[in-house]
Amino acid sequence: MTGIWIRYEVAKKKIILEKTLKRARSIPRRDVTPVEWLQAIGSRLPWQPIESRLLVGSSLPLPQTFALTLSSPWCSEGSVRGKPQAASSLHTYHVFVRVATSLASKPLSYNLQANCLQYKQGLSEIREECQELVLSDGQVLEIMKRLLTELNRGLSKATHDTADVKCFTTFVQDLPNGTVCHVSWQLFDHIAECLANFMIEHDLSSERLPLGFTFSFPLSQRGLTKGYLVQWTKGFDCSDCINEDVVQMLKDAIARRNDVKIDVCAILNDTTGTLMSCAWKNFNCRIGIIVGTGSNACYVEKVENLELFEGDKSKPYMVINTEWGAFGDNGALEIVRTQYDREIDSHSINAGKQLHEKMISGMYMGELVRLVLVKFTKSNLLFGGKGSDMLFERGTFFTKFVSEIESDKRGTFTGCRQVLDELGLSHATDQDCVNVRYVCECVSRRAAHLVSAGVATLINKMGQLSVTVGVDGSVYRFHPYFHDLMVEKISELVTPGIKFDLMLSEDGSGRGAALVAAVACRDR
Ligand code: GLC
Repeated sequence: MTGIWIRYEVAKKKIILEKTLKRARSIPRRDVTPVEWLQAIGSRLPWQPIESRLLVGSSLPLPQTFALTLSSPWCSEGSVRGKPQAASSLHTYHVFVRVATSLASKPLSYNLQANCLQYKQGLSEIREECQELVLSDGQVLEIMKRLLTELNRGLSKATHDTADVKCFTTFVQDLPNGTVCHVSWQLFDHIAECLANFMIEHDLSSERLPLGFTFSFPLSQRGLTKGYLVQWTKGFDCSDCINEDVVQMLKDAIARRNDVKIDVCAILNDTTGTLMSCAWKNFNCRIGIIVGTGSNACYVEKVENLELFEGDKSKPYMVINTEWGAFGDNGALEIVRTQYDREIDSHSINAGKQLHEKMISGMYMGELVRLVLVKFTKSNLLFGGKGSDMLFERGTFFTKFVSEIESDKRGTFTGCRQVLDELGLSHATDQDCVNVRYVCECVSRRAAHLVSAGVATLINKMGQLSVTVGVDGSVYRFHPYFHDLMVEKISELVTPGIKFDLMLSEDGSGRGAALVAAVACRDR
């Protein structure tokens, strides 16, 4: 027989409940069921659960210590906010209690749900079904551990070939540091010249222009102007380019035209471009990430850690293109992948590849939501069981719909109704709209948490006390809460004492590429 202590404290806007098992001597002897916990918790909170159900598992093992994190997926910040609404309102307030234990060899999570007000038909089941899309703290920590292992495998000579996260050297070593103002005229002259010449009917024939070529695919680089395509990603497929030097291919194409004089001075990934364009304004920027059609990150690594770099080691740092989109291709993400992720993958043109990217990026997010909605419609939990041709067709639910739906003020459904009308689902009830939004939130939140786990892994690995992360990409730009979700999650995951901030790359990766090209031309 065991008993519990429950104490709670308000930290980081979350209510953390901690339970410690004590020897029966010091505490009341009784068995404790999850439902009793919930009631105990509820009685100490400003609301009272009137229904509580154990969602996963029928009883809890009794680990020695564990924490309960009380959070509401209804709030973008993941903290408990707002007040329960009147029972008649559509804003029925739900509280999820997640119990994670670190005792078992694999992180286990148990989910309890308390409907604080009236039970609404279909809603509870939808939350229950969506639980597989919610990452527990234990899972996020495990993902960070595995990603770090993969990053190190990518950097190491012995394991690079078999690593998923390749960590390609980029040969970009000169970050803006405030002493490169002599580059700025080149940069801006270059851009202005291009624009001016563009305006006079593209007549660039009298100029010889340096070009920074942003190429947003995995490249094995042998120099700043030599990059061999490793594989296509994001729906591109053109097999005769694989293992080819894409700079040479671009040069050849330019030569074939014979009407412009362009020097390709650098080739770089869009993440590197993002890092460079942000570092131009903020010298503390050491990480560049993209959450757009694809997802990837680059960061600044010490040259001494680059086993694969055989060039001049006099400069201390180099930007590394991690290509983290491929994380999980060897099974590392199976702890969190769902039926929907498998379906997305099996219908993609690169099945088995880029599994991390497929859980995050804009190319797949809308389709992930659609697959969940289809499942719920077929099981009669949505739209009165009646879908539409559009809903059942692949690729009809655009990722921008997720942002539009989540941009609705809570309790209003203007954006959501527009989307549903477009999909031939005008028969949706207000409750359906609430549920559709919930599905969108689960999918986008999971993406934000995966990206955050990655960013925090890099920040912790670099060990710098203060880091700016340059970010670009349509999902980050247009999703109403992505930035906030990331800030919140990364704060939880970084080593205490480290400060970070996320900076939107306003210039996109293009200006970063021009900057690298300008420095490269100067150094010639
Ligand atoms: C894909 C590409 C990667 C790029 C990312 C974002 O993951 O492989 O190179 O950075 O998309 O565009």
